[in-house]
Amino acid sequence: MTASDPVALAALHAQAFAAPWSAREFADLLSQPGVLAIQEPDGFILIRVVLDEAEILTLAVIPTARRLGLGRRLVEEGAVVATQAGAARLFLEVAEDNTPARALYDRAGFRQIGRRKAYYTQADGSRTDAVVMSRDLCVDQANVPLP
Ligand SMILES: CC(C)(COP(=O)(O)OP(=O)(O)OC[C@H]1O[C@@H](n2cnc3c(N)ncnc32)[C@H](O)[C@@H]1OP(=O)(O)O)[C@@H](O)C(=O)NCCC(=O)NCCS
Repeated sequence: MTASDPVALAALHAQAFAAPWSAREFADLLSQPGVLAIQEPDGFILIRVVLDEAEILTLAVIPTARRLGLGRRLVEEGAVVATQAGAARLFLEVAEDNTPARALYDRAGFRQIGRRKAYYTQADGSRTDAVVMSRDLCVDQANVPLP
C-alpha cells in the first residue's frame, strides 16, 4: 500500500471507467472526513465511513492487471480498514450490467439489499439500474493485520 495521490488515483480511474473522475475530484473527496483510500500501483479502493456504516465509493483495477486477485484483495483490505474505523456494515452500489464487479462482490460475501431504478446514465444516454449490496463486517477484523 502506498500513500494516496489524487493524480495517480485519477489516472487509474480513467483506465477503468468511461466517465473518469479528475484529480481535483479525488483531492476533494480525500479531504472529506471519513474518506479512506487504499492505493496500489495497479488499482485502488475508495471508502467512506460514517459512524458505523461504510460505503465503497469506487473500486478500480487497470485492465492489464485484472483477474489476478487485486480487486478482491482491495475489497478485503477495505473491509478491514473500515472496521478499524468503526464500521459494522459495508455498502456499495454497482451497475446491474457490471458482470465482473457483481461476480467479485458476490464472491466477497455481499448480498443484494435493494435496487435504484435507472441510476446510471450510459454514454449512449440509456439508463441502467444500480444494485445496492451490503456485507456485515466482523468486529474481529479490527484486530487483524492487513493481508
Ligand atoms: C471489477 C474489477 C475491480 C475486478 O478487479 P480484478 O482485480 O480483476 O478482480 P479479481 O481478480 O480480484 O477477481 C475476483 C473474482 O471476481 C470475479 N470476477 C472478476 N472479474 C470477472 C470477470 N471479468 N468475469 C467474471 N467474474 C469476474 C471472479 O469470481 C474472480 O475470481 P476468480 O478470478 O478466481 O474467478 C475490475 O474488473 C475493474 O476495475 N473493472 C472496472 C471498474 C469497475 O467496474 N469497478 C467496480 C465498480 S462498482
